[in-house]
Amino acid sequence: MAKNWTPESWRDMPIRQVPDYPDAALQASVEAELGGYPPLVFAGEARRLKDQLAEVAEGRGFLLQGGDCAESFAEFHPDNIRDTFRVLLQMAIVLTFAAACPVVKVGRLAGQFAKPRSSPTEKQGDQELDSYRGDIVNGIEFEAEARVPDPRRMLKAYAQSAATLNLLRAFAQGGYANVDSVHKWNLDFVSSSPAGARYQELADRIGEALDFMRACGIDPENAPEMQGTDFYTSHEALLLGYEQALTRVDSLTGDWYDTSAHLLWVGDRTRQLDGGHLEFLSGVGNPLAAKVGPSMKPDELTRLIEILNPANEPGRLSLICRFGADGVAEKLPPLIRAVEREGRAVVWSCDPMHGNTVKASNGYKTRNFDRVMAEVRNFFAVHRAEGTHAGGVHIEMTGQNVTECTGGAEAITEEKLADRYHTHCDPRLNASQALELAFLIAESLKAERLALAAE
Ligand code: PEP
Ligand code: CO
Repeated sequence: MAKNWTPESWRDMPIRQVPDYPDAALQASVEAELGGYPPLVFAGEARRLKDQLAEVAEGRGFLLQGGDCAESFAEFHPDNIRDTFRVLLQMAIVLTFAAACPVVKVGRLAGQFAKPRSSPTEKQGDQELDSYRGDIVNGIEFEAEARVPDPRRMLKAYAQSAATLNLLRAFAQGGYANVDSVHKWNLDFVSSSPAGARYQELADRIGEALDFMRACGIDPENAPEMQGTDFYTSHEALLLGYEQALTRVDSLTGDWYDTSAHLLWVGDRTRQLDGGHLEFLSGVGNPLAAKVGPSMKPDELTRLIEILNPANEPGRLSLICRFGADGVAEKLPPLIRAVEREGRAVVWSCDPMHGNTVKASNGYKTRNFDRVMAEVRNFFAVHRAEGTHAGGVHIEMTGQNVTECTGGAEAITEEKLADRYHTHCDPRLNASQALELAFLIAESLKAERLALAAE
């Protein structure tokens, strides 16, 4: 952190993607009000996540991060939260069991509202309006009035985040995430898909393993690890007025933490080395992540690491790579080599979504599932060749039966995209696609482990 860092020192730096609130007094009063609201997460939880990510950085675990591209006020419903949570748990079970690898579970949930945009305006016909920037900033309706940034939306986003987190905590610790329930997690529409059938088989094997333990006199019911799970939240720290308002001193350590989520990341569009977003994140004690896109240069990356993790603390920083399936082989090795040369501890995670976005012939923004799978495969292959650990995956997914990404075992075609295309921003994997991806990752992780054992 810079010597004179404060929760508001970012305000003196150049900054991108900031909404232009017409009523500055209202903005200031909302931010002040939020400043008096309770924290959403606790510093101790953020430190626990950092410790678990330190294990991942050292090759002893895997980071599974996923959820909506953008949460929305309209899709706020307990069933949606439950189903996304459930698919993430299923993915985690696949990875833990099939790859025998501890999994750190982090949702893009309970605060993932603000969106960076490639263009400040959006055109439909001859009408041009300011772009939608996420429900925490303005409305998605293509009307001039809806697109005016309204700071009061921050209060609603806070309330929705608090309620979402409350439910997630209950699911994670209140009995729902009990390993004995793995069978019950198979969503109806998934169980008929090939990935769902494969999951059912795996759940049966876990059931047998649990029965075996019981027969040996080890009661899984008595192990707290089997009764619940750690589940963490994360979002892009884009709207810094909101993040600052939720940044508090931890009474135990005296350090600053952004209590809006356990983990915060900086997006590919706002990671300028001299910019406000890095300045803000450099001073909070949470585990952090940075998106790394095709324009990142090796020396720029090492300077970014120096800013966000000067003490080289394992678990502090994850790098979420998103090059597109064809970019990985060329872009990733020089970055890995630079990080290794400098002896930096990081978690390498793969976002196979953002570099593979295309426009379908009927105008839908989509991603082809084969490209998503190819990026993950290429990511693992490069790490294998470099001798480093492919440490995580970062995906946009939902537990809903949407048709937003083409392909997958159910072969969603471009024509089918219109059936159930509900996203407020980028196209998400549906539950079957997410599970299919989990099986691929499990195989890749297992291969990595076997290769290491053979060395
Ligand atoms: C995102 O994660 O939704 C996003 C905008 O990603 P990126 O910053 O990598 O483009
Ligand atoms: Co997105």
